[in-house]
Amino acid sequence: MDNRAQLSTNCLQGVCETLLIPLAARVVESESHDPAFRDERGVEIARLLDFDPHEVAKDRWNKVGCQARTLILDSAVNDFLNRNPRALVINLGAGLCTRYWRVRHEESLRWFDLDLPSVIELKRELLSQFDVEPQNKLRQYTTLPADVTDHSWLEQIPRANDEQVLIIAEGLLMYLNQDAVQSLIMRLVNEFSGGELLIEAWSPFVRRVWGTLSPALRRTGASLHWGLDNPRTVAAWDPRIGVKNEWRPGDWEPHRWGLLRFAPALRRSLTKVVHFQLGDAVKRKEAQPSAA
Ligand SMILES: C[S@@+](CC[C@H](N)C(=O)[O-])C[C@H]1O[C@@H](n2cnc3c(N)ncnc32)[C@H](O)[C@@H]1O
Repeated sequence: MDNRAQLSTNCLQGVCETLLIPLAARVVESESHDPAFRDERGVEIARLLDFDPHEVAKDRWNKVGCQARTLILDSAVNDFLNRNPRALVINLGAGLCTRYWRVRHEESLRWFDLDLPSVIELKRELLSQFDVEPQNKLRQYTTLPADVTDHSWLEQIPRANDEQVLIIAEGLLMYLNQDAVQSLIMRLVNEFSGGELLIEAWSPFVRRVWGTLSPALRRTGASLHWGLDNPRTVAAWDPRIGVKNEWRPGDWEPHRWGLLRFAPALRRSLTKVVHFQLGDAVKRKEAQPSAA
């Protein structure tokens, strides 16, 4: 590269600016000697921005947590796409996530990256530098400007009967309040019966302290609102929500975590990625009498 113009990140204020934290984590890992994953498109995008990923990634726990969740979610999305060749993926609060280019998928995959308008405007400008048409007519890959708490965005996603649906909320729900999270998940349950939902959630303890302890997050001024200890709390909101799986980013490569390598229980309690099954199928399964 490259004689493309650098783009300013000044348009990213408050919660929007938080997208630089996971982007930096992915770029720094991709450019390291023996990376656990490569985010080539993320590296290309970061080079077009006026920010220094290495500076942002100095915040070690944020960096490692984002890298761990990248591996977990990439693998979970690949698994979903293997099981469901005809798929619709909706990535909520997508920021500058480039998972669409990292996962293995069929040509028929439809993928929506949704975020607030200022983020989508920047993302479209960045992607246009790589001949990606972020609003292509076939709608295989589409960027969608919307506030996730205003559920009218759902009307902008055309549906096909034979597609299986996966919704991802990575690095998003902690910035929403309890009511917004619950009403969003309930809307997804009503809308996507048979679909699957992958969320990343922080513990209530991390939610309380992290805005102060993390320099990268503090710089953005974003407030943290929602924390989750037990995924069953979400499942209890509706019988059509079932917990399929749960992973702990803190279990990944202890030596990367600095002082936290000596505190495995604390490390694994910090954040989680939870895989939910949505819809009537869950209700029917749980309604079956036990064999005893
Ligand atoms: C920490 S970033 C995560 C970005 C991306 N998921 C990733 O992991 O790279 C949080 C993202 O959530 C978006 N966000 C926060 N509140 C939102 C809302 N109400 N509606 C849509 N997006 C929102 C922010 O703009 C930001 O891009």
